Amino acid sequence: MINALRGMKDIIFEDAEKYIYFIENSQKIVKKYGFNFIQTPLLEETSLFIRSVGESSDIVGKEMYRFIDKGKNDVSLRPEGTAGVVRSFIQNKLDKRGGRYRFYYYGNMFRYERPQKGRLRQFTQFGVESFGEKSYLEDATMILLLKEILDFFKIETTIKLNSLGCQKCLPPFKKELIKFLEGVEDKICEDCKRRKITNPIRVFDCKNEKCQEIYKKAPRLNNSLCDECSSDFENLKKILDELNIKYELDENLVRGLDYYNKTAFEFVSNQIGSQNAVAGGGRYDKLVEYLDGKPTYAVGFAIGFERIIDMIELPKAKREGYYFGAMDSEAITHIFKIASKYRKNSRVEISYQKKSLKAHLKSADKINARYCVVVGENELKNQTLWIKDLELKEEKIEKLEG
Ligand code: HAM
Repeated sequence: MINALRGMKDIIFEDAEKYIYFIENSQKIVKKYGFNFIQTPLLEETSLFIRSVGESSDIVGKEMYRFIDKGKNDVSLRPEGTAGVVRSFIQNKLDKRGGRYRFYYYGNMFRYERPQKGRLRQFTQFGVESFGEKSYLEDATMILLLKEILDFFKIETTIKLNSLGCQKCLPPFKKELIKFLEGVEDKICEDCKRRKITNPIRVFDCKNEKCQEIYKKAPRLNNSLCDECSSDFENLKKILDELNIKYELDENLVRGLDYYNKTAFEFVSNQIGSQNAVAGGGRYDKLVEYLDGKPTYAVGFAIGFERIIDMIELPKAKREGYYFGAMDSEAITHIFKIASKYRKNSRVEISYQKKSLKAHLKSADKINARYCVVVGENELKNQTLWIKDLELKEEKIEKLEG
């Protein structure tokens, strides 16, 4: 027997219903905010991810499904959705046109991580990317939108918020941080030693408690933000306060992808174990330019479907459509022809086997049909249908037309 690969799962039965329910309703909400659907390829040139997600990130460093294709191209399965959308944005020359563009997408992402609950190697994201808007109000819109989606599914989360600064305030801060890290080099873990060289602010994301204890004395970016980053962050917090959106400031929130600047946020849940980030996002104003496009402001987020699936409750299914069954062998093709006509407007299930009335009623109930239509010897002779409304529990005989 061949099984699915480790860390990869089928979405089937109730999970499949939840998937459709999640995608359909999330789409409805993002459309209210003016987002349009975009679908980008699963496979991209590896350099796209190296240049966007960042060489120093765990994702690019350790987790990519990367291979050389038959044309000798270095390609990778996408580990996330932002890079592909930005590539498409530039390829379609939207950066040159200017203005505001808003896209949403959903689909599979691939990261060769150690699988555990809520952490898969193939998983599903629903994400949005907004281009061309500098205002902190767009950051607020992202948070409101994400909250509206999670509220719709009754998923309770805590919003974690941070500012990662910009090209102006981040480099001097990094220098200061490196100086601090050099002073404690013999006490920090090997990963942090590596981070010190590749991307020092990622040390704040270290899971090692000893390191975290040491970083309590480290310089903090929040105290070194430039005037613009500082006022944008203050304004964002103010508008969230005014809208009564609760959030927690988290100076350790540096995100696992290198393209962010200014606002970074994560929505975390205490109901799902250690992989508690349900969604994450932030601003990435330099990425378009970094991928050879015209400088364009950008902000977005992505939700991880597999992290919320257990918390999604499907609405109680209503009885719907028709179930057709025959009690007589000769009636089978007869009902088949009639039922096929009903399919134009309704959900229709046809039994190809002759069964007793009781057995047909049971099958109709099992598939949650509203009406059970049965034809036996009498109905065939009289050109009628026996119909039971399974919701109102009423029966009737209907004459066939023509
Ligand atoms: P991310 O934080 O890497 O951000 O992923 C977003 C969400 O995807 C996470 O919060 C989590 O729910 C889910 N996720 C990530 N890795 C896994 C995994 N191995 N298994 C299951 N779920 C996972 C991004 O990917 C950014 N592209 C988000 C973004 C869009 N930022 C700006 N625009």
